[in-house]
Amino acid sequence: MAKIKNTLTSRKQVDLKINTKVTVPGDKSISHRSVILGGIANGITEITGFLESGDCLATMYAMQSMGVEIKKNGNKYIVNGVGKHGLKAPVGSGIDCGNSGTGMRLLSGIMAAQAFDSEIFGDKSLNSRPMTRITKPLELMGANVSATKKGTAPIKFKAVEKLKSISYQSPVASAQVKSCLLLAGLYCDGDVSLSEPKLSRDHTENMLRGFGCQVTSNDLTVNMKGGQSLKATNIQVPADISSSAFFMVLACLLPDSEITFVNLCINPSRIGIIGILKLMGADIEFINQSTNAGEQIADVVVKSSDLHGIEIPHQYIASAIDEFPILFIAASLAKGQTKLTNAMELRKKESDRITAMANGMKILGVDCHELEDGIVINGGKLNGGQVDAEDDHRIAMSFLIAGQFSNGAIEVKNCENIMTSFPSFLEICNTLGLTIK
Ligand code: S3P
Repeated sequence: MAKIKNTLTSRKQVDLKINTKVTVPGDKSISHRSVILGGIANGITEITGFLESGDCLATMYAMQSMGVEIKKNGNKYIVNGVGKHGLKAPVGSGIDCGNSGTGMRLLSGIMAAQAFDSEIFGDKSLNSRPMTRITKPLELMGANVSATKKGTAPIKFKAVEKLKSISYQSPVASAQVKSCLLLAGLYCDGDVSLSEPKLSRDHTENMLRGFGCQVTSNDLTVNMKGGQSLKATNIQVPADISSSAFFMVLACLLPDSEITFVNLCINPSRIGIIGILKLMGADIEFINQSTNAGEQIADVVVKSSDLHGIEIPHQYIASAIDEFPILFIAASLAKGQTKLTNAMELRKKESDRITAMANGMKILGVDCHELEDGIVINGGKLNGGQVDAEDDHRIAMSFLIAGQFSNGAIEVKNCENIMTSFPSFLEICNTLGLTIK
């Protein structure tokens, strides 16, 4: 896979109009879950559409290093599930999750329940993200787990025989916390019950059902009988709405344009971006809707529109959590003011996404100011300038899209981590006629 340069420059392509279909790569969240659940299932799971990005490949290597055989055959990955008690202690110094919070928090649910000691760590950014949100409930389940004094990775797990049931009220709406506990729950006596303040994405629940487990969801609470086993199944990973988000905003802002995103996962817990853009005046439509393994899929048509600022309703925050960097770019080019509050979680992502975006937008002349839990952006024009993506893939891609709309080029530093979620981003940009080098 060709690497992405660390500094990239994006320049306006004058008179650009786009009328085309785009197929973005497979969903990152579903890809992680497919190799984890496939690895601990009984039997062979075939996966099509797996996202071959840094984050998902790190999770695949993690499962391989715990003894799961995974091979590529044409466009499929064949996972030879070892059953939930078939994993072995990881080879080497432990599991390296790279930049991936999803990989770390989900794998921890499994590693906490094994009859062997292990350790999990990541890169500088991941090793500074909060992990007590998983280590605390895992301890309540009887896991022998320890993070650093700051509550960060590396996380160490000592061998245990079995975990205990748990009824847990999560302080944050987090699919990673919920998934960690559900995966640990496969190894516990009794039931797992988790409630969260807002509904986070529910791909783990959907996929567990696909692997033959009984999981019930009721409003903000998920319940699962502990100790269930997984029966292998085949998985088709749909296209990732979070990757399409960059081009959705592009389609809205470009005149006389229309982009159809093919085979997109439109799980209701992921479509906050569409709700928010529509409130801002966007013209977006679902066509060819279907359902596959509990996941809703559609082709999504996005047309040019005049965007205006809004106060972002709190109900959309969890379901748009990864899309705020590009939404901030949309807001900075929209008419009027956009205000986001209650979005403290944005400060705990691959970077502090409120500060990283505000710093960059100010350099580009945007009138914006940070709030403790959000941001206020007054729409207007974007100037050119040099911004820092702070090694955060979504910050990098957002500022590169912004370059199509700025007066003067935008140079973005520390872009390499685009590889963690969207290795073909630049290729798609080129095909669409954007000038990014
Ligand atoms: C993810 C959940 C979200 C999201 C992340 C992927 C997942 O994080 O930001 O990119 O696949 O479970 P939280 O669950 O911590 O909000």
